[in-house]
Amino acid sequence: MGSRNISASNKTYNILHQTFNSMIKFGIIGCGRISHRFMQGLKQVADTSLTAAWSRRAESVNHFVDLYGGTACKSLDELLASDIDAVYIATLPDSHAAYSIAALNAGKHVLCEKPATVNLSQLDDVLKIARTKGLLFMEGMKPPFFPLYRSLKEYLQTDPIGPEGYVRAGSSVADLSPDHPNFSYELMGGALMGIAPYEAFLALDWLGSMTGLQAMGRFSGKQVDMFATFQTQHNNGYAQLYCGFDLHGKGDALISGPLGHVTIHKNWWNPAKATIEYLDGRIVELDEPFTAGGLNYEIEHFCELICKGQTESPIITHELSRQMITMLDEARKQIGLKFKGE
Ligand SMILES: NC(=O)c1ccc[n+]([C@@H]2O[C@H](COP(=O)([O-])OP(=O)(O)OC[C@H]3O[C@@H](n4cnc5c(N)ncnc54)[C@H](OP(=O)(O)O)[C@@H]3O)[C@@H](O)[C@H]2O)c1
Repeated sequence: MGSRNISASNKTYNILHQTFNSMIKFGIIGCGRISHRFMQGLKQVADTSLTAAWSRRAESVNHFVDLYGGTACKSLDELLASDIDAVYIATLPDSHAAYSIAALNAGKHVLCEKPATVNLSQLDDVLKIARTKGLLFMEGMKPPFFPLYRSLKEYLQTDPIGPEGYVRAGSSVADLSPDHPNFSYELMGGALMGIAPYEAFLALDWLGSMTGLQAMGRFSGKQVDMFATFQTQHNNGYAQLYCGFDLHGKGDALISGPLGHVTIHKNWWNPAKATIEYLDGRIVELDEPFTAGGLNYEIEHFCELICKGQTESPIITHELSRQMITMLDEARKQIGLKFKGE
């Protein structure tokens, strides 16, 4: 049986390269690694601007606005009082809930990096305020917006592998520097918090709601998990997932159904290539490079929701965020990782 290559790079997706009726002005909280990548993406999204930024250290924010423009704010209050429509929160999990609540209370829409909060209770507090204020809150969960992921979903609608019943995925990166915040207990790091939100997303997206979980993990000397593995039961099947910082993982994802399986090649959370192998021997290769670091697709979706006056993404729904953090809560509980104040 032959194999064929499908590239949908010439397709026009509804949400890509859209122009909005008015300029959407962003403020950024936290000017670290991911915020630089966010700016790479934002520059590709029409009718948006970086208007203001604030971070804990003045050097970080000054350097940031030197690179990308906007006003360097001296305080959170200054940022929230500035003329912005939305806030992108890119600090560490310890402060996501507090900054989301502050931004919503100031009347700003919020795009908050994963994990949206430290636990479900915090997330419910944030969602309650978003609902009360009638503002958009969305967790930054990039994979479903990548062209490859969208093409894969579309392709499987016409040539299915049957109802998907198993997901195996993970990521373990062994080359982080020892001072990386993922190793910090105080900043609510660890492999489950730093990496597993993606794995949780994949399992929930393909298999539906979780009905059970078993987890194992080992800790570093810094009280956070260095490696964890967990398996989950869902309405439509089972998932086996891992995350870690001291082993060099493969970083691909497998999705199986009765008529075939899909491999999303490494690094599956920045999806660019997938292979579908059917039971009848056919092999379909999907090849969809992403541009500008890949956050542009998620940003474009977020901006489109603002323009339409929507307060919740139909893709990263509030309930999906609740289920992702519930999975992490349960995995942390089983391996014995409790953060201060919990
Ligand atoms: N979507 C993705 O692809 C992706 C990839 C990596 C990480 N992430 C997520 O993005 C978030 C940030 O990760 P990162 O790798 O960018 O971390 P990072 O490089 O350490 O950046 C965090 C930034 O936030 C600032 N900050 C930290 N705590 C703060 C606080 N309490 N108040 C004000 N500013 C604070 C830091 O401060 P100063 O520099 O000002 O000291 C730093 O600039 C995490 O939630 C992570 O899970 C997402």
